[in-house]
Amino acid sequence: MDKLTREIHDHGKVRETMAFFENFLQTITSDDREHYSTRIHKFTDEYIIDHFRFEEQEIFPLILEQGSEEEKEFINELQEEHGEILISLAIFLKVLFSYGPRPNKEEVKQIIKSSEVVVSRVLLHARKEDKLLFPLLKKYKM
Ligand SMILES: [Fe+2]
Ligand SMILES: [Fe+2]
Repeated sequence: MDKLTREIHDHGKVRETMAFFENFLQTITSDDREHYSTRIHKFTDEYIIDHFRFEEQEIFPLILEQGSEEEKEFINELQEEHGEILISLAIFLKVLFSYGPRPNKEEVKQIIKSSEVVVSRVLLHARKEDKLLFPLLKKYKM
């Protein structure tokens, strides 16, 4: 699979994961919480952390090597966003697992608030990459 194909596939998965986050939050007080929590971990490891690693190891260095100044600056910006997203994800998971299986109203509010930060940052980042990074993959034949 070439890198662009993998990127397109991964971004589809990233969007699915974000949709899953939103559904999860509607059932947060139900008995399924344990089940969902396990899946949230699997999804974030597989589709966010692995995906970032792929971009950082196999895509960004190539553009930093041969790209224009403007392209390099863009890659640095994406790299910074990865850091911010991982921090917001860590905060979300910490909040989620700091409560028992039946969080109260205030706790649910905290969980939803921290997840909204993750979802909006991830979606914004993915959209930016679709629009501006994917063409660079084509340009550099990755
Ligand atoms: Fe990214
Ligand atoms: Fe991406």
